Amino acid sequence: MESIIKSWNGEAVVIRRDHETDAWIYIAIHSTRLGPATGGTRMKHYSDQKEALGDALKLAAGMTYKFAVPGIERGGGKAVISIPSGLTPDGRIGLLERYGTLIHQLGGLYYTGPDMGTSSEDMDVIARTGDPYVFCRTPACGGAGSSGPITAVGVFAAIQAACAHVFGTEALNDRKVLVQGTGSVGGKLIEYLRNAGAEVIFSDVDHACVQHYRDEAGLTCIEADAVYDTDCDVFAPCAFGGVVNADTIPRLKCRIIAGGANNQLTVPEDARRLKGKGILYAPDYVVNVGGAMGIPGMENMGWTTMDAERKVAESVRSTLARIFETAEAENITTDEAAGKLAEANLSR
Ligand code: PHE
Repeated sequence: MESIIKSWNGEAVVIRRDHETDAWIYIAIHSTRLGPATGGTRMKHYSDQKEALGDALKLAAGMTYKFAVPGIERGGGKAVISIPSGLTPDGRIGLLERYGTLIHQLGGLYYTGPDMGTSSEDMDVIARTGDPYVFCRTPACGGAGSSGPITAVGVFAAIQAACAHVFGTEALNDRKVLVQGTGSVGGKLIEYLRNAGAEVIFSDVDHACVQHYRDEAGLTCIEADAVYDTDCDVFAPCAFGGVVNADTIPRLKCRIIAGGANNQLTVPEDARRLKGKGILYAPDYVVNVGGAMGIPGMENMGWTTMDAERKVAESVRSTLARIFETAEAENITTDEAAGKLAEANLSR
């Protein structure tokens, strides 16, 4: 654990052992340079606590860049709640309430929202004790609800911008898009893509999702291990991180990678490998900014849903266009171009 924290360039980590449930809570404060650390709560079972801590640290750094690129006055943070496999529904509620208390005690150092494994209903529970540092409560509890739809608006705009760059048109009616993961972001993205006339194929490990999108919606389902060998124009990772790596890149048959998942690249060199293969990579934290930008806008700054959708789509589109141009002009990767933009805003 010590060496993992030492090799990280963030500000602080808060660790709480939840004795009642056997869970571990890690709140990673990567940067408060531009404002209070803000980022979702990821809740899942990890076989190894080092992996859970490492996930929190890496995800928090991603949030710093996510806010820095469009110049939003928030810092990077993330929480991971590493739960035991047999957690009961009641145990889960108690755990979330104690987690909320911890957030409250931090007094505004860290603001949270949902992420993989947590929902708006969970935010309601966390807010019982964690108020006012909790985004994305249900509308009944005064929040803007799920961040999935507004995030998907940004991912959709990113796919259009990437297609415009690669194919000279953002029209999607002749495009084949592979969506990996049909959760709150991927599911909405599929809807937007189909409305735009794209051919959508998908992959999911959850049986109910497969049933819905394959058997009811009639979409082609790709087996999990065939995703990286499947021919498509756009590969949209909307599930786990680390899907783009030395093993998968040689197999990829897409022209563009643009999706909602956090930390898609395993190591920065993966961006070089993609560039070498002629695959345009839209940096994940630029693509998936929609929730982090739109939800605080709607909850704190009076934006309507339409305002948020317009601002997110415009921001993603224009930022990506700038990143693609810079990468070409300077012969660097799109990941490097995005990093330069973020660093410039962080050192302003
Ligand atoms: N899961 C979101 C992300 O990774 C986190 C978030 C959503 C934070 C909404 C604040 C508000 O960007």
